[in-house]
Amino acid sequence: MTIIRNFEEKDIGDITDIAKRSLNTDYDPRFYISIHELWPSGFLVAEENGRIVGFIAGVMPQESEARILMMAVKKHFRRRGIGRALMHAFINNCTLIGAKRTYLEVRRSNTAAIKFYRSLGFSTGASYPSYYDDGEDALIMWKTL
Ligand SMILES: CC(C)(COP(=O)(O)OP(=O)(O)OC[C@H]1O[C@@H](n2cnc3c(N)ncnc32)[C@H](O)[C@@H]1OP(=O)(O)O)[C@@H](O)C(=O)NCCC(=O)NCCS
Repeated sequence: MTIIRNFEEKDIGDITDIAKRSLNTDYDPRFYISIHELWPSGFLVAEENGRIVGFIAGVMPQESEARILMMAVKKHFRRRGIGRALMHAFINNCTLIGAKRTYLEVRRSNTAAIKFYRSLGFSTGASYPSYYDDGEDALIMWKTL
């Protein structure tokens, strides 16, 4: 059974590993702590049999808008509805504090993620040319809550 719950500091090892493998990023553990401090209920994990299998982390740069910074599900756990469950819980927490919109940046080539966000009602907005270090463009995807 998959449980969606708030991030806790003990999850950092698993999250760092998922972020490395699924997002190709290697952040210092302090990065996760600082995101969590900014908005504790915007950082959620999916736990299965005591192990973290996915997470979503967002911040609130403006009162009415939540920005999703990172989201990933472990490779062998994908297409089982875990991403959808994480996003539903995140959106629920957004609406509880009055956010009216959520948005994120995604690589133009990340068709799986783009299909995932579209399936959850996200629209595609502007693109940021050469947003990523390797020169790839980002697409902005957003959802009215
Ligand atoms: C994007 C991601 C988080 C989705 O997680 P997930 O747990 O596999 O998603 P779900 O199983 O909840 O999928 C929900 C719906 O999204 C769509 N979807 C998800 N993955 C898809 C894919 N690879 N291809 C097409 N549609 C997809 C489907 O409509 C799916 O419903 P269905 O399985 O009933 O058809 C996961 O693929 C991932 O971690 N990718 C690597 C990291 C990444 O790209 N993160 C986003 C960066 S912006």
